[in-house]
Amino acid sequence: MAEPIQFPDIELYRGWGEPMRTECTIHGLELLEGAIPEGLEGTLYKVGADRQYPSGRDDDIFIDGEGMIHMFRFEDGQVDYVNRWVRTTRYEMQREAKRKLFGRYRNRYTNDPEVDNSVSMGTANTTAMFHAGHLYALKEDDLPYEIDPDTLETIRRTDMNGQIGSACFTAHPKVDPVTDELLGFSYQARGDGTKDIVFYVFDAGGRKINEVEFEMPYAGMVHDFAVTDEWAVFPFFPMMTDMEKVKAGGAYFEYHPDKPTHVALVPRYGKAEDIRWFEGPNATAGHMMNAVRVGNKVMLDVCYYEGNCFEFFPTPSGDVAPMVPPFLTRLTFDLGRNAKEYEVERLLNVPVEMPRTDDRYQGRPYRHGYCIARSPDGSSGTGHVNMETGEISIWRPGEGDMVQECQFVPRSASSPEGDGWLLIPVNRVSRNRSDLAILDAQNVAAGPVALLKLPFKVRATFHGTWVPKHARETGRYEYGLAGAA
Ligand SMILES: [Fe+2]
Repeated sequence: MAEPIQFPDIELYRGWGEPMRTECTIHGLELLEGAIPEGLEGTLYKVGADRQYPSGRDDDIFIDGEGMIHMFRFEDGQVDYVNRWVRTTRYEMQREAKRKLFGRYRNRYTNDPEVDNSVSMGTANTTAMFHAGHLYALKEDDLPYEIDPDTLETIRRTDMNGQIGSACFTAHPKVDPVTDELLGFSYQARGDGTKDIVFYVFDAGGRKINEVEFEMPYAGMVHDFAVTDEWAVFPFFPMMTDMEKVKAGGAYFEYHPDKPTHVALVPRYGKAEDIRWFEGPNATAGHMMNAVRVGNKVMLDVCYYEGNCFEFFPTPSGDVAPMVPPFLTRLTFDLGRNAKEYEVERLLNVPVEMPRTDDRYQGRPYRHGYCIARSPDGSSGTGHVNMETGEISIWRPGEGDMVQECQFVPRSASSPEGDGWLLIPVNRVSRNRSDLAILDAQNVAAGPVALLKLPFKVRATFHGTWVPKHARETGRYEYGLAGAA
């Protein structure tokens, strides 16, 4: 007899966090207000975590849970919605067993005894990536899972035709929609608790054209990175893995409040011996907005926590350092000097997270940033940051409601930076369902130009990507830059 399905009565699973566990298909979402902009044709893919089975543990955390991929397909004046579980190794094993087999977040020593120690642990729950005609669901501790871009069926777990020799691949790759190159990396690349990191560059056809392997200062967490035309910027914040504690059933990461931050600038097309190292104050961060090189200086814009960014990862003494608010902050690295320190400058005094850009301007000088702006009452809105003036304008969907990460879509392949739309899943918390809002990216505060209704909640998505209609057909974005020849 299989066990009854009963989730514990903990905060994580109450209200909006209640597991959804449902696969849906809707042909044509209801339009609540406005009009879907003409020319907006393509697919928004988003990935998040849901809960397949209860774990029987009280230390589940929101970033864990099996991957659920969602798509909003804009076609012929309507928007279709589909969501499907990603059939990862662990999803299939648990489905077979009819119960949860995998234990604490990333801790294989807490798995059910029937799970072999070599089984891949990835949930594919963090983002969707589209490159060279293929769609993937990603989680940073496992290889990519390839997904059918039309049906969302899981095709396979893949090492990109043998080109990724590491155990895993980041969930924050950069697909350059102008050059169609893919830049990504693996950290703890030789397995749990290892210090190895490998940076990869793939060409528009998916062929690996550079690989740089080096060692991190410690077995850290590297959730995101940023790229410029010449450099890949890897911050190593002191969030570290202690394998002895992991083997004893402890948390996979610990925040070290007394340790500095290290940053490696890795040449995009160069070698490990050309890496430039910097060292700065204790801090943490998950997400980078962008990086830009001007002359000998590289600027990294990051949602920066002057302390701990995860309340569920303890300090080495077992205490929990209080979570501090994230502020958009610029770290400036001067490559013209032979010095290790870098400048830290706060750009905005409003707490923001999940930063995005017009992705044609990733690694290039840019003027427009987008983010989730938090309110003290727990609600949130979508913010547009003018990076030249430091001003932010915010659309708040309503009292108690929340927004998920936005996706910028250019109006046309060569429209100026920031000329386009923002697509935003909205949590209508009081109504226990979702909307998809479409905003004019140049007039965010005016609110949606179109609002589409979902008759249920899209519980949680972390990140995603937009695939225009032509890219789905050709495998290439081939976006231009305004003013470029
Ligand atoms: Fe992330």
